[in-house]
Amino acid sequence: MKHLVCVKDFEDYAHQVLPRDTLDYYRSGAGREETLKSNRTSFSKYKIRPRCLRDVSRRDLSSIILGQTVSMPIGISPSAMQRMAHPEGECANVRAAEAMGTVYTLSTIATSSIEEVAKAAPGAIKWFQLYIYRDRSITKKLIKRAENAGFKALVLTVDTPMFGLRVADMKNEFKLPPHLRLANFQGDHSITVNGKGTNTGSALNNLGDLFDPSLTWDDIKWLKSITHLPLVLKGILTAEDAFLAANAGVAGILVSNHGARQVDGWPASIEALSEVVNAVGDRVEIFMDGGITDGTDVFKALALGAKMVFIGRPALWGLACGGEEGVKQILSILRTEFEYAMAISGCPSVRNIERSMVVHESHYSK
Ligand code: FNR
Repeated sequence: MKHLVCVKDFEDYAHQVLPRDTLDYYRSGAGREETLKSNRTSFSKYKIRPRCLRDVSRRDLSSIILGQTVSMPIGISPSAMQRMAHPEGECANVRAAEAMGTVYTLSTIATSSIEEVAKAAPGAIKWFQLYIYRDRSITKKLIKRAENAGFKALVLTVDTPMFGLRVADMKNEFKLPPHLRLANFQGDHSITVNGKGTNTGSALNNLGDLFDPSLTWDDIKWLKSITHLPLVLKGILTAEDAFLAANAGVAGILVSNHGARQVDGWPASIEALSEVVNAVGDRVEIFMDGGITDGTDVFKALALGAKMVFIGRPALWGLACGGEEGVKQILSILRTEFEYAMAISGCPSVRNIERSMVVHESHYSK
């Protein structure tokens, strides 16, 4: 992996090594993939206004996120079925996050269980991503298991009343490979999503049917009443919903369009970030994900008000190229690029990254 020096290198290499169906599942977005493209290209519309002569000989990338110290403001977003990328899947990914001192978010739709992930990296800062199911007992059990396993926050994904339409997956008739299972479902529910005995490959369709599409803000109250963990809502893109979330007492908002996998035509996450920050940035911690592939992206998101950013696909490319070591390299590449962007633009610490240091490109055509 020595010759892989940026996220794009890992992505290109992952494209060569992953089976077609898996690659398409990881890579693709909804519809014509316009939002998918814009998640990345929108970063170019923002420019960094550098400052100079500000003593950057000592640099501090650490932050306090939901009360926990992270070594850098770059964490890992939940993504489903990571054992398709590498035999150790989620366990390799969480170990990389542990080694790099940052947050790992485990997807509900994981191919390693909550308990396996906790055992693989006892010292990692782990968050658990949740969907709410028609049968509330599934949700309650998952939360109890995450609490018992030492997870530090719950991330409720609010942009997925149902899975988006992804053309590549429809063409491929995407299924979970038969040697894998969705490991967080137990008993009867495991049979529903994984099939009896051997995996029938029907997991995704059956799983989607378990989701409750009738959720409302009242369910957030219910969720808060059954857990002591801080709650992050993932998938908010508007000021209106940000207000409702803050009023509901959530600890964090993850501004996200789900890696552009839900509805094409939604804004890029970086475009929606300011709206949410302006609405409630003084009341809840704001995070963002979507299209981060370079340390300068991290700098821009932080200047626009995110306390931390998260990566989805880049960690999958790291896993595919080299398991735990590959993800560590992805995180360390982004860390170094971010440190350089910070220091050379005049910021010795993340606390020095000010709103005035990033402007929309139109600033320079005035
Ligand atoms: C995701 N994402 C996601 N989100 C979530 O809340 N639960 C999940 O199970 C998944 N699964 C998933 C699978 C795959 C293959 C991808 C690519 C993404 C969305 C994810 O958490 C995150 O929002 C995006 O991946 C961020 O965008 P980038 O970094 O991939 O551009």
